[in-house]
Amino acid sequence: MPGSDDKGWIADRRRKQDRRGPAVRRAGADRRLVGKGQPEGERRTQQEHRTGDRRAAEDRRNEAAWQPITLENAAAGAYDDAALVAAAVDAREHARARFSGFKVGAALETASGEVVTGCNVENATYGLTMCAERVALYKALSEGREVFTRIAVVADTADPTPPCGSCRQLLWEYCGDIEVILANLSEVKRRLRLSQLLPLPFDGRLLE
Ligand code: THU
Repeated sequence: MPGSDDKGWIADRRRKQDRRGPAVRRAGADRRLVGKGQPEGERRTQQEHRTGDRRAAEDRRNEAAWQPITLENAAAGAYDDAALVAAAVDAREHARARFSGFKVGAALETASGEVVTGCNVENATYGLTMCAERVALYKALSEGREVFTRIAVVADTADPTPPCGSCRQLLWEYCGDIEVILANLSEVKRRLRLSQLLPLPFDGRLLE
């Protein structure tokens, strides 16, 4: 029932929000700027900027991204991935993957630090299968979440399992250039930005 309980819940949410600081609310192209506060190694050096050497910066970024990060390191605070990856590992347990046997979990982080999870859901027609990433995204959107920072994707594979083309498209349109963390059950295999997975995107700007 709406009423005093509601107020309590809203007040609780406000208190949490106050602790975390104001939520970043950006829309459209501006939302793409969310990733601009990148760590040092992800930015171009002054020299690279002057010479327009995007390739050198990209090589450095990829080299850094390929370092496997164990979840123990992550838990020790070297990287802030552990909690998000753990949420994706847990969500993966709920996967309905009886046709492929390939279970995937995803955890999408909002700008205010909340985590919304998803797992893949298959069905007998195969074609109606929904990936873990989109389940997490649709859950988050349907619950009113608007701004996102990172997504972790977990599968039990030695190589990283990246989002499929459809998920890349949907994540791009609703989340912008978020960070994508690809992990298996024991370590983070890769960290990239969505723009590295979808370098020449089609989106609403082209329809304007
Ligand atoms: N799948 C995902 O959920 N996410 C991915 O990133 C790749 C693929 C699912 C879809 C299907 O249920 C199973 O994995 C095999 O393709």
